[in-house]
Amino acid sequence: MSLQPNRPPPELILVNEAPAHAAEIEALLNRAFGPGRFAKVSERVREFADFATELSFCAIEAGKVVGVVRMWRVNVGDRPVVFLGPLAVEESERRHGLGAQLVERACLAAKAAGEAAVLLVGDLPYFRRVGFAIAADVTLPGPVDAKRVLARTFGEVALAGAVKAR
Ligand SMILES: CC(C)(COP(=O)(O)OP(=O)(O)OC[C@H]1O[C@@H](n2cnc3c(N)ncnc32)[C@H](O)[C@@H]1OP(=O)(O)O)[C@@H](O)C(=O)NCCC(=O)NCCS
Repeated sequence: MSLQPNRPPPELILVNEAPAHAAEIEALLNRAFGPGRFAKVSERVREFADFATELSFCAIEAGKVVGVVRMWRVNVGDRPVVFLGPLAVEESERRHGLGAQLVERACLAAKAAGEAAVLLVGDLPYFRRVGFAIAADVTLPGPVDAKRVLARTFGEVALAGAVKAR
């Protein structure tokens, strides 16, 4: 292997998702989640949710998509919120904080857009590090472990009710 000490590491940038990224994102999501990808209750939500391009980001390194976070507009009861997911990082790029960076960027964009909260279905041990807590009073359109229904709220926001179309 030849060392190239004068070459800087490829720059990693976060950009809004654009149609040109779609094929690479699909391939990344298939690698990250495998064939069970579309069986998740989150997919049922995404079937009726409105995709929020301006709140969704991908990470690009050396011209390639290496991470993605998607955001969707829904309601919890009568309150508008954003539903986050899927989140995925290319295996070779994991454990360097990119997942957390993508979540943070998407949450800050949602907050700046005036959204009250970000909701997701995921692992609390991972998402508590980026400000999420169990949303005990939120119900989804299908069976899910209640400990995996998580929210990050902006200000004093009580989330209660069913997730439905905005
Ligand atoms: C989850 C994922 C996006 C994290 O990406 P990442 O860039 O590695 O994330 P970060 O660098 O911010 O955090 C890495 C840390 O989270 C931990 N972690 C990753 N997934 C976790 C999980 N499901 N539960 C608890 N901890 C988790 C890692 O072990 C690592 O721990 P360390 O900091 O002690 O080494 C990535 O592992 C991935 O794409 N996984 C497959 C798809 C997936 O499960 N998406 C989440 C759906 S809820």
